[in-house]
Amino acid sequence: MNSLFFKRMALIVLLGTAPSIFAESVWLSSLNLKEMTTGWSVAKADHEIAGGPLTIHGKRFAHGVGTHATSKFRVALDGNARRFTAEVGVDDSAGNQGSVEFIVSGDGKTLWDSGVLKGGEAAKSVSVYLAGVKTLVLRVTDGGDGEGNDHADWADAGIEMKDGAPPPVALPPYETFRLSTKSFAVTFQVGDDGRLYQRPIGTDDPGAKLLRDDEFYPQAGDGYIWEPALQAVHNDGNSSTALVYDGMTQTNESADIALTRAHLHDPAYPFEVTLCFRTHHDEDVIEEWTEIRHQEPGPVMLERMASTSFLLTTNVYLTHFFGDWAKEMINPITEQITPGTKVLDSKLGVRADQFQNPSFILSLNGRATETNGEVLAGSLAWSGSFQCEFDDNGQGIRALCGINPFASAYHLKPNETFVTPVMIWTWSDQGLGDMSRKLHDWARDFGMRDGHQTRAVLLNNWEATGFDFDFNRIVSLFDPAKEMGVELFLLDDGWFGNKYPRISDNAGLGDWQPNRQRFPKGLAPLAAEAVKRGLRFGIWMEPEMVNPNSVLFHEHPDWVICQPRRELELQRHQLVLDLTRPAAQRFEWNTIKSILAVPGITYAKWDCNRYLTQPGSPYLPPDRQSDLWIDYGQALYALMDKTARTFPDTELMLCSGGGGRVDYGALKYFQEFWPSDNTDPTVRVLMQWDYSYFFPSMAMASHVTHWGNRPMHFACSVAMSARFGMDLDLTKLPAQDKAICAGATSAYKQIRDVTAFGNLYRLEDPHEGYRGALDFVSQDHSRAVLFVFQLNDGQNMAVHPRGLDPARHYTIHELNPAPGRAPVPQEGQTLTGAELMHDGVVPSCAHAVEACVLELDSGSNGSLENK
Ligand code: GLA
Repeated sequence: MNSLFFKRMALIVLLGTAPSIFAESVWLSSLNLKEMTTGWSVAKADHEIAGGPLTIHGKRFAHGVGTHATSKFRVALDGNARRFTAEVGVDDSAGNQGSVEFIVSGDGKTLWDSGVLKGGEAAKSVSVYLAGVKTLVLRVTDGGDGEGNDHADWADAGIEMKDGAPPPVALPPYETFRLSTKSFAVTFQVGDDGRLYQRPIGTDDPGAKLLRDDEFYPQAGDGYIWEPALQAVHNDGNSSTALVYDGMTQTNESADIALTRAHLHDPAYPFEVTLCFRTHHDEDVIEEWTEIRHQEPGPVMLERMASTSFLLTTNVYLTHFFGDWAKEMINPITEQITPGTKVLDSKLGVRADQFQNPSFILSLNGRATETNGEVLAGSLAWSGSFQCEFDDNGQGIRALCGINPFASAYHLKPNETFVTPVMIWTWSDQGLGDMSRKLHDWARDFGMRDGHQTRAVLLNNWEATGFDFDFNRIVSLFDPAKEMGVELFLLDDGWFGNKYPRISDNAGLGDWQPNRQRFPKGLAPLAAEAVKRGLRFGIWMEPEMVNPNSVLFHEHPDWVICQPRRELELQRHQLVLDLTRPAAQRFEWNTIKSILAVPGITYAKWDCNRYLTQPGSPYLPPDRQSDLWIDYGQALYALMDKTARTFPDTELMLCSGGGGRVDYGALKYFQEFWPSDNTDPTVRVLMQWDYSYFFPSMAMASHVTHWGNRPMHFACSVAMSARFGMDLDLTKLPAQDKAICAGATSAYKQIRDVTAFGNLYRLEDPHEGYRGALDFVSQDHSRAVLFVFQLNDGQNMAVHPRGLDPARHYTIHELNPAPGRAPVPQEGQTLTGAELMHDGVVPSCAHAVEACVLELDSGSNGSLENK
């Protein structure tokens, strides 16, 4: 022991004065012992736990702390301490019984451990240097045999501080931190074992004992028995990971946004994990992801690395969406999560979705409604195979979501950081409507490109012409489009390929030169014809794919993803180019660049029409084959990012054989997505309703077509509630349909700022009744648009809008009324928002496949004088 320190302590004892008069030396017993936990009674200053003198093996101590296992005491030193000293042992008051272990640790590292000490044994001296230590933790365990008679003494315990340093301060026994937004909070707590725990969402008992099951981001292989968030094989073959908490940082990125980074490491390996959370206060949104890094001698194999692992209480309902091609998102399933593991996943490799969208809703304490209930929406920002698991162990539910571990073990090299996809969470304690509105607000700001610009009215030729067109045929579509009020023309598939012309879907992908027979002078003159008429021009592309019938494939058969010794498995006659190969990356980028650089092109539809079913890369070495799925996804995002940055004024539509890539991973590089090839408006009513739980309507492309042969007025009304477009041969449209489309086009232009930026209220669920209804209310509440879509015959009961300003006066006006139908009975009437919301509005539709679109306009300030 440092002799000066000893002398000072001795002097203090002699003088009977508190040691804190010497700033350098502080008795442990002078600190706030209320913060010390004990297994029995309360910690005593200068006495043993039962109140008698501190005595170990017959030796009395005037100073010290009497405690009882299990005990913990945290002390803030802020790097100002030199040393901790004490004499420790079981107090004689235990009558030769009891057994304990004293552990001294600093900043998560064990500095000294007494081993098991039994009653009647002599005191053991401890003296540890504390240079640089910020937090000292003194713990007493039960020695492994229960807490009976475990009277434990930290006798003569003192902390020597640097000269002039502020005194140490007792801290609450458990380090906690919270993530909080306007109406949501999650609490994390560091356990006695140094691991990080989370208080389950939906419980508010801060005193509840934390169990091993409550570990946050649990790791496989070291005691945790449920679904782990992380499973890694270290470079030496050890398949276990044990993470302890090192600390966290919280930084404000703006008044509304904070970034929390919690640092963990495995004491046995140079292996670190950072749990990252970006909170958006007003939107109740949390973006969550994980960063993994190591300095082991060679690669570490990541077999499982979830983006999220939040714990919830039980009694949770899960809503998810199952579908298929042309049936995306029309089948919401709500079920109570029960013990066992519920898995939502996809293994499609180059897209997340076809059957199962990587988005879901958790409702706490029963089913939520549009206006009631605690709900947590989750959406994984990843466009490849994903897995969301809801692991219910009977005591609580863990929601794990991330890249699908299926066949995707990833080799992480030393000093590289693996960043998981972002999980987007949105909370509401006011039901599904509020949840969606907050998520839409976030999405317009951060989840998509140009979320604050209205979208153009688009005409697509796919349903009108299929592959059968040439320069003149396409140009013939421009004048009627312009007359109709269309603002943007999209030329779909079929414009490229010469040796293997793209006149059907079995040839040409990969040969991105305009077909010389169809477009002898290339695309520029075609785009110029559109621009000349005041139309913008857009183009279809599928840069990731190749047909075996193509020059590209003949020149580079080794550029495709395939499995050796297996026959090539074609889907839609095509294969996926191997984006892990730098030459293929360069090829795809050059393709995109050359297409989008054509003068006049300001819009592109990026398609992806197959899955990844033979996941082998001729480029990657044999022992890196399982990296393919993740390397592909990352290379794809790099390509999308480069495209968005290089062509900032070119709008991009995300399409994957319909709605295969509807996820926030890709959407951030795109303005909109194609929800489904199914454009039957009776189906779109359901799909758009379901997508709207997670995505704003301005991101959903909705085109009027002849699918389902529905009345044109119905088709137009449904398309107007999202990003309105048409996929029709306008030259062949009957006059009445033409007039309806023209009316819808101009009505859409009038309301698109409200549907794009306004708040969405889902009013009547089309899955449940004979009709669906929704309204959008402008942020300043001055205008609203109300949509009623009738799917079956039924009474035209009043529909009750929501979200209006009760005090404002709104004038009712039906937009683009259906020809030959009586107008809405309240046409032209002015009512207050309160009246409208209470009494409702009677729509003009009463039969199946009729629709009614109403504008509710309060003028500039909503006062009657201004009407
Ligand atoms: C996919 C898309 C369609 C269309 C065709 C063209 O199926 O989903 O909208 O672009 O490709 O081949």
